[in-house]
Amino acid sequence: RTLRFAAGALADAGSAVAMTGAGVSTASGIPDFRGPDGVWARYDAEDFHISRFEADPAGFWADRLDLVDDLLGEGREPNAAHEALAALEREGVLEGVVTQNVDGLHQAAGSESVVELHGNGEHVVCVDCGARDALDAVRDGDLPPRCPACDGLYKPDVVLFGEQLPEYAWYRAHAMAQNAGAFLVAGSSLSVEPAASLPREAAARGTTLLLVNHERTALSGRAEYDFRADVTEALPALVDAVRDY
Ligand code: OAD
Ligand code: ZN
Repeated sequence: RTLRFAAGALADAGSAVAMTGAGVSTASGIPDFRGPDGVWARYDAEDFHISRFEADPAGFWADRLDLVDDLLGEGREPNAAHEALAALEREGVLEGVVTQNVDGLHQAAGSESVVELHGNGEHVVCVDCGARDALDAVRDGDLPPRCPACDGLYKPDVVLFGEQLPEYAWYRAHAMAQNAGAFLVAGSSLSVEPAASLPREAAARGTTLLLVNHERTALSGRAEYDFRADVTEALPALVDAVRDY
């Protein structure tokens, strides 16, 4: 079960989809969630629940801006893992990338078909009229930020705890997963629903499942290929192996 076989499985699948988590961005200086230096070791997840936003939008936003400076910060660049996935799409192996990340680094690396399941951290959205704006537009103003068009509250354009996933993103992710002959997951603990149900249900339908992650994941027992490896090494190696196949 070497990378060479995994590359063959991907190339022969006809069409494959990748799903990524925070582990693909740690090498870009963005912490993951559940590791020892993860976001939930430093911040209280309860503070970022939709009910906190509704009860105390100014307090929510003050905490959110702290977290965003920590997580997204200026000058984050895509790494070899993002670049490898973009290369697999260009070469016609991947249909696209479904990501749980909100950092925009897949697009920055050149991936064109990207489904952001948990939204985009660089944007805000008006809860009343749906207008979107850049996060930078609200950074230095009064809290909570409000929509200039209708005075509604601005919310980060990300999925908060207690919220549903954006319907269209979920629909697209499903369609991609449904059509894929192989499903590659990189840098995710697969512990968050409903995202984790995409590869789980694909595996149940008989889709070849490949995992690349430092640690065991919730689907390790179900995967044909379960590489415990660094994504910045394994994914470029996979690209090379696909080219040699
Ligand atoms: P997690 O923090 O749960 O999992 C990241 C996984 O990546 C861990 O298993 C790490 O060991 C692994 N990892 C980190 N760096 C790596 C590297 N360079 N190479 C290989 N593996 C590496 O993050 P997610 O699975 O993305 O949701 O978490 C999913 C969701 O939980 C997030 O989207 C967020 C969070 O609550 C929302 O905010 C809605
Ligand atoms: Zn509005």
